[in-house]
Amino acid sequence: MNQISNSRDPKNVRDLVMEQQIEQWLEELTISEKCSLLSGSGFWHSQGIERLNIPKMMLTDGPHGLRKQGEKEDHLGQNESVPATCFPSEAGLAASWNRDLAYAQGRAIGVECRAEDVNVILGPGLNIKRSPLCGRNFEYLSEDPYLSSHLGAAYIQGAQSVGVGTSAKHFACNNQETKRLTINAKVDQRTLHEIYLASFETAVKEADPYTVMCSYNQVNGEYGAENQYLLNNVLRKQWNWDGVVVTDWGATNDRVKGLLATLDLEMPSCNGVNDKKVEAALEGNPEVLEALNESARRVLKLIVRTTQNLPEVEGFEAEKHHEIARKIAHESMVLLKNDQAALPLNADESVVVFGAFADTPRYQGGGSSHTNPTKVTNTWYSMQQYSNNLEFFQGFGVYDEVVDLEKLEQAKSLAQGKDKVVICGGLPERYETEGIDRTHLSLPKAQVEFIREIAAVNSNVVVVLNNGAPVEMPFVGDVKAILEAYLPGQAGGEAVADVLFGVVSPSGKLAETFPLKLEHNPSYEYFPGEGYEVAYREGIYVGYRFFETKKLPVLFPFGHGLSYSRFEYSNLCVSEPSINDGETVQVSLNVTNIGDIDAKEVVQLYISDKQSEVLRPEIELKGFEKLDLKAGETQTVHFILDKRSFAFYDEKLSDWRVQSGEFEIRIGSSCQDIQLRDSIRVESTTKLPFIVHTNSTFGELRGHPATKAYADELIEYFIEHSGIDFNLGDNDENFAETVISFFPIKNMVLFCKEKFTEPELDEALTKLCQQVAEYEECA
Ligand code: BGC
Repeated sequence: MNQISNSRDPKNVRDLVMEQQIEQWLEELTISEKCSLLSGSGFWHSQGIERLNIPKMMLTDGPHGLRKQGEKEDHLGQNESVPATCFPSEAGLAASWNRDLAYAQGRAIGVECRAEDVNVILGPGLNIKRSPLCGRNFEYLSEDPYLSSHLGAAYIQGAQSVGVGTSAKHFACNNQETKRLTINAKVDQRTLHEIYLASFETAVKEADPYTVMCSYNQVNGEYGAENQYLLNNVLRKQWNWDGVVVTDWGATNDRVKGLLATLDLEMPSCNGVNDKKVEAALEGNPEVLEALNESARRVLKLIVRTTQNLPEVEGFEAEKHHEIARKIAHESMVLLKNDQAALPLNADESVVVFGAFADTPRYQGGGSSHTNPTKVTNTWYSMQQYSNNLEFFQGFGVYDEVVDLEKLEQAKSLAQGKDKVVICGGLPERYETEGIDRTHLSLPKAQVEFIREIAAVNSNVVVVLNNGAPVEMPFVGDVKAILEAYLPGQAGGEAVADVLFGVVSPSGKLAETFPLKLEHNPSYEYFPGEGYEVAYREGIYVGYRFFETKKLPVLFPFGHGLSYSRFEYSNLCVSEPSINDGETVQVSLNVTNIGDIDAKEVVQLYISDKQSEVLRPEIELKGFEKLDLKAGETQTVHFILDKRSFAFYDEKLSDWRVQSGEFEIRIGSSCQDIQLRDSIRVESTTKLPFIVHTNSTFGELRGHPATKAYADELIEYFIEHSGIDFNLGDNDENFAETVISFFPIKNMVLFCKEKFTEPELDEALTKLCQQVAEYEECA
């Protein structure tokens, strides 16, 4: 059901009828009406054309629940919205590594949209977590583009399966909140494609979101809303996508420039100002008219897609959706640490629960994603369903920065003699919200001190955290267990209790690295930029790509997450020892649940390029599967790897290329906990032009089959006549070979004085060029 399949099937009768309808409308619409279709009629609606019965659409937030506002409207989450299910925020959803759950969340939100006549839900958020400081990381999926794009695709397919459009946002490089409306993200092409665009690419190509929301910021000097490269070249031409590009709310800069870059719909209303600018620009500019017609066509298609012949769906049942939110929350939690099986708790143990987060849950982030939940459960109440042996004392408040010594003393005496202590902490909303970035990764100081003081009187402390992004944990060595519950949505309290008492075994894995310190993060020195520019100087080395390459210790690595069960990996089988990059290879392995409870495990496949001449991170995620295993059960997992699994983005070719050589396939239960390895040779079929010039080195000439033999002759001549002693002292045996390989051929004239003249160099170059031409002709 949720498998990614190309949703652009050949046209069926419905599509043809839809096209006819759209073309007829286009004929009947006046120029001003067409212009009006390209901007909003209010905060959340597009414009309709009453005369032709063209309806308005409602587009609203997203991403982890419906935020349909009433009379008072805003895009920062300040005013009330209709009751809707608050699902785990995307940081948690991603930690589930479960495509089925992403699909289920998308679908359930879609059902709620249908019940409220909402046509497009503004999500999922597919920006990469470049820095843990980004205030909106809770709304984004991952630091890894493969995981982000695949889960995003499943969410989109889920929502669109019930006839509700989605908006993959914010395209692109909206990786910080500081100056987000104007900042210019400077990103090299390779990094842009391998990291920041790849996070959208699979979702766009495979799941075909009805809309993509452009970012406020500039990318390489052009605003997201008018970025020719991003919108026209990448989205339209390279990815062959013909949905509607909608602005982020208020992101328009130059409306006509935007139209020419294929921006379709400006939101919210511009009060007609920009409609008039477009109309004025038509005079003498046929390309503006063409762009207007194309955009109007795309907007009309969106209207038809989201208002006509919608699939039958069940009505919204709040209780049923609450249970879906609870199931997703179960898998969104990551058991980071569990020494001596401190968890799960059992009903016979005496347990004291501390922390305001236990009874005042923090379950969603601040800003435009803020929903008005149908109900909210809390951890303390929910824990009482499983045990009578519990006590609760707040000890610290959500906003406390300073420990209240009196409360601390009381808490210490309650903790003494208890079998276990559960401390519920996390980040207050003002620490992480849309519109601002964090400046540090610390929890409020009061919490850190409280945890350490309690751990000094009871060695069985379990910490439960509610936050949307990594925090530093100076207490990590003092406590037995840590459950990262993220922002788990309205059913989070029940879900935490279910996991704490072992009703469900935790199965979440980190979709982002938890660094030991903020300063270790690769973007640290360049975030959030200088003036109005932020240079992505760390390049492709984002998140674990950096930490694994540098071999830097982290607090908890990407992909990490413990279970109450144990798993054994075996029988790794790679179908071919070597392939060319036009072929695919199958990888399979077995995973057995060797514990005595049913549990889920996420199998991760990483690729490591062993011989690359281009810079490559130590590992890159290229596959994952979540398995549901009964105690004792074995399942076989299958992966298919293709060119993109091995390729990098070659800036010179503006395309993906494989560098021929050996690649290691690593199967792990985190990016560090590698269980099985095998390797494969992949040959590139890309023909790179080989250009010979005076600065071609002996090494390069020797490395090409056409010029190898002649290069050997030239090298021999060079050694004999250059007068350089290449066999110096006790150098390594490869020293001479290596040094000579770096000499450019022009040095023959300089060093082989009077023996090798300039005309001879010209002759040699001509011969080498001929050899290459002949070789290429034959190949
Ligand atoms: C946010 C978008 C959101 C929009 C509408 C903007 O400020 O960046 O993510 O969808 O407002 O609320």
